[in-house]
Amino acid sequence: MLKSIAAIATSTLLLVSAQAHAATEAGPILIKFAHVVADNTPKGQGALLFQKLAEERLGGKVKVEVYPNSTLYGDANELAALASNDVQLLAPSLAKFEKYTKQLQVFDLPFLFDDLDAVNRFQKRAKGRQLLRSMEDHNIVGLAYWHNGMKQLSATRALLVPGDAAGLKFRIQPSSVLEAQFQQLGATPQVLPFAEVFEALKSGKVQGAENPWSNIYSKQLHSVQPFITETNHGVLDYMLVSNPRFWYGIPHQVRVELEGIIDEVTFEVNRQAEAANLADRKRIESAAGTQVIALSDEQRDAWRQAMQPVWQQFETAIGRDVIKAAQTVNRNKRD
Ligand code: LMR
Repeated sequence: MLKSIAAIATSTLLLVSAQAHAATEAGPILIKFAHVVADNTPKGQGALLFQKLAEERLGGKVKVEVYPNSTLYGDANELAALASNDVQLLAPSLAKFEKYTKQLQVFDLPFLFDDLDAVNRFQKRAKGRQLLRSMEDHNIVGLAYWHNGMKQLSATRALLVPGDAAGLKFRIQPSSVLEAQFQQLGATPQVLPFAEVFEALKSGKVQGAENPWSNIYSKQLHSVQPFITETNHGVLDYMLVSNPRFWYGIPHQVRVELEGIIDEVTFEVNRQAEAANLADRKRIESAAGTQVIALSDEQRDAWRQAMQPVWQQFETAIGRDVIKAAQTVNRNKRD
């Protein structure tokens, strides 16, 4: 039995190194990086920086093609394309991995993280690192977490108290936590791919959405949403992923260089994400036709109370240990 496991392991290694060898002999390794947002967002900038550094340092060995705005694959097919190696790098939001692991839904729980710094601390600690490997059984290897920012609620009417959202239809990402969050408000959640959000809001198919400032501004969502409430009620972050057959098939030295580049890019994306979102917030505030609503502490607390029951609903699926680990990263402890 042990002998046959060893034989399988050896032949897998030989296969992987043969593929790697073939890859370098056949010319540069092509890495297609597809994503659904615009270039002028934290993720869009990260993808371009990865391309720049990889080509500067590994030119001739690696070629990177970046496809923003769902131009190659979108929400509906990008993970299948990764599995079939038609694309080699993606950075879907953490909400989009529900099919593969429930644990990552911790990031969708409303009012769990106080701010991006808290999210950062969680991602760096043991439990956060562990979640990068939570989809290996599904042939998804997590390479890094990238920030976008905290989400805001936009709508066709002013949302001051939770009851204001009742009866409206909100576009959501495919996450049952987000579905439950809007149901708690008496609103109707509607899953739609990111590429369809602008049209859906414009046509009135949905009347509201939740997005970080950078996604609102880069897709001009504020031009079709007269009110945006600064709730900071949840986080929209990403996992940079590849498929292990491709990733571990890259010749060792090249892969180590690429992993170093990813570390650098991750540092830059995460360092700049908050400022980029704040700059977009300012641009939106000064644009005509939309009103940014700031909440008092009491008002924000009412939204927290209204959404809080979602935690109990998903505690077992996500794991109490994961939620507890996430809670400890907030500086201002609450019960
Ligand atoms: C969304 O679908 O709203 C986001 O996941 C888009 C993105 O990649 O930021």
